[in-house]
Amino acid sequence: MEKSTVMKLNNRVEMPSLGLGTWPMKRVLYKVVPLAFLAGYRAFDTSSAYGNEHYLGRVLKFFPRKSVFMTSKLSNSAQRTGDVRRALIQSLTALKTDYLDLYLMHWPNPDTYLGSWRQMEALYKEGLVKAIGVCNFHEHHFEKLFEIASVVPVINQVELHPLLTQKPLVDYCSKKGIAMEAYSPLARMDPRLINHPVLVKLGVKYKKTVPQVVLRWIVQSGYCTCPKSSSFKRIRQNMDIFDFELTDDDMRKIAGINENYRVRHNPDTADFSKL
Ligand SMILES: NC(=O)c1ccc[n+]([C@@H]2O[C@H](COP(=O)([O-])OP(=O)(O)OC[C@H]3O[C@@H](n4cnc5c(N)ncnc54)[C@H](OP(=O)(O)O)[C@@H]3O)[C@@H](O)[C@H]2O)c1
Repeated sequence: MEKSTVMKLNNRVEMPSLGLGTWPMKRVLYKVVPLAFLAGYRAFDTSSAYGNEHYLGRVLKFFPRKSVFMTSKLSNSAQRTGDVRRALIQSLTALKTDYLDLYLMHWPNPDTYLGSWRQMEALYKEGLVKAIGVCNFHEHHFEKLFEIASVVPVINQVELHPLLTQKPLVDYCSKKGIAMEAYSPLARMDPRLINHPVLVKLGVKYKKTVPQVVLRWIVQSGYCTCPKSSSFKRIRQNMDIFDFELTDDDMRKIAGINENYRVRHNPDTADFSKL
C-alpha cells in the first residue's frame, strides 16, 4: 500500500496529508493506534475537549517521537480560563511529550479568540509547538485576527467534504497561505454523501469504495484530512488512496456535488457555551 503524501505548511513544517481522527475514541486507542501505524498513519488528531489525550499519550510513547505528528487543540473551556499556557502544558503532559507538532484553536469563540491567539503565538515562539493554526474560522474571523496577529495560522481545520466544499473559504485561505484540513471528511457517513449517485458511479469506475473516492478527492485537492475509524479494515481502506488519481473532469464532478450541507456546527451560529 502506498503511504500518505506530505504537505509543506507556511512555516516549512511538513505534515502528513492523511492522519487519524480520534474523536470519540478512548481506551480503544490502545488497539487502534498501533494498527493505524502499521497501516501507514503517522499523524494523529486530538483535542483537550475529546477527553482522550492521555489514552493517546500512553500508546504513542511506544513510537519514536519524531516518527509521529501530533495535533491537539485548545478547547473552548480552556479558552474561557484565559490561561492558554496552562492548557497546553496539560495537553503535553497527557500526551507524554514535550512539544506538539501542531496546536489548533478549536473554535473562534468571539469573546476569547484574539487573546487566545496572542498566547498561542507566544507558545510557538517558545518552541513548545512547531506550528499553530485554527479550526472553524470563516473569512471574517481571519480579518479580525490579522489586525492583531504576528504569525499567520498554518492551517484552518474545517468541516469539508463533497456536500460542503467551502470554495470561497478555500480560495481565501489559499491567498493567505493557510492550508486547509478537512474534518468529518466522510460527513460521518451521512447517506446523502455515501449514496450519492456521482460518487457511487466513480467508485465503480476506479474500483474503490465511496469513502476512498471522497478521501482521494480531498487530498488531490491539496487538503490534509483526518478520517476517524476504529476498525482495522476501514483504517487500512482509508489510507489506500495513494495508488490512483481522479481525472480533472471527475474532480470537477465531485466538487459539483456541493449542497452547503453541514453535519457539524456552523461557527457563526454555534453556542460556544455548550461546545
Ligand atoms: N476541529 C473540529 O472542530 C473537529 C470537529 C469534528 C471532527 N474533528 C476531527 O476530525 C475527525 C474526523 O471527523 P469525524 O469523526 O467527525 O467524521 P468522519 O471521519 O467523517 O466519519 C467517521 C465515521 O465514519 C466511519 N468510517 C470511517 N471510515 C469508514 C469507511 N472507510 N467505511 C465506512 N465507514 C467509515 C467511522 O466508523 P468506524 O469507526 O466504525 O469505522 C465513523 O463512524 C475527528 O475524529 C476529529 O479528530 C475536528
